[in-house]
Amino acid sequence: MIGANANSLKEECCVKEQAATQTSVADYFDRRAAGWETVEEHTSSVVQPAVAVLAGVHAGGSVLDVGCGIGVMEQVLHNLGAGRIVAVDVSSKMIAKARTRFAGYDEMTFEVADVTDMTCDEPFESVVIYNAYPHLLRRDELVRNVHKLLVPGGRFVVAHNDSRQHLNQHHEAVAAGVSLGLRPARVEAEAWQELFEVDAIVDTPAFYAFAGWAR
Ligand SMILES: C[S@@+](CC[C@H](N)C(=O)[O-])C[C@H]1O[C@@H](n2cnc3c(N)ncnc32)[C@H](O)[C@@H]1O
Repeated sequence: MIGANANSLKEECCVKEQAATQTSVADYFDRRAAGWETVEEHTSSVVQPAVAVLAGVHAGGSVLDVGCGIGVMEQVLHNLGAGRIVAVDVSSKMIAKARTRFAGYDEMTFEVADVTDMTCDEPFESVVIYNAYPHLLRRDELVRNVHKLLVPGGRFVVAHNDSRQHLNQHHEAVAAGVSLGLRPARVEAEAWQELFEVDAIVDTPAFYAFAGWAR
C-alpha cells in the first residue's frame, strides 16, 4: 500500500522536476523574501531547538544551515553555542535579509550557494535542512553532497514544523513549479540510508523529521 503510493508520488515528483529548475526556485524565493517574516512568524520556539538537537548541534560545534531563508534557525543555533554557523540559500534576497538581521554575530556567515554543488574547506559536524527539503530538487546530488560536507559521524536533519499532508497541499497551491511532493518520512529517509545511518523518524500532524549520522 505504502509502496504503491510512494511509486505514484515518485512519478508525480519526476514530472514536476522536469519543469522546475534551481534557478526558478531562486527567483521564486527572491520574490517572496520581502514578506518572509510574516510567513515564518508562526514557527514555534519549541520546534527549532528540537530540530537543532536532532542535528547534534552543540556548544562549539559547526553547523551548515541549508535553505536558511532570512535565518529562522540562526538565533537558536547561536543560543546553543554553535561556534561556526554557515547558512546558505540560493536566493540572494533571502541571504541579504539574513545578513542584515544577524550583522555582528561573528560566528555566522551567510552565502548564496546551492547545497547540491557547494564545497567547503572544512566539513561540518551538523547539517540542518529546515522547511526547505521540498525545494531541493536534485535529491541524489543533495544526499551525496551533504555526506561530503559532513565529517564522518556528523549529523543531518530534514525537518518541518508542519504535517506532510498540509505541506503538500500548500505547495500544490502556491509553489507547484518549484517544489516536489513530500513522501512519508520513512520513505524519504530511504534515499539517505546508503550513506547515512538514519536513527530518528517523526511523521506527525505537527512535526515531520528524519535525521541520522554520516557513515
Ligand atoms: C520554504 S523556504 C524556508 C527558509 C527557512 N529555512 C525558513 O524556515 O524560513 C526554503 C528556502 O530554501 C532555499 N533553497 C531552495 N533550494 C536550495 C538549494 N538547492 N540550496 C540552497 N538553498 C535552497 C530557497 O531559496 C528558500 O529560501
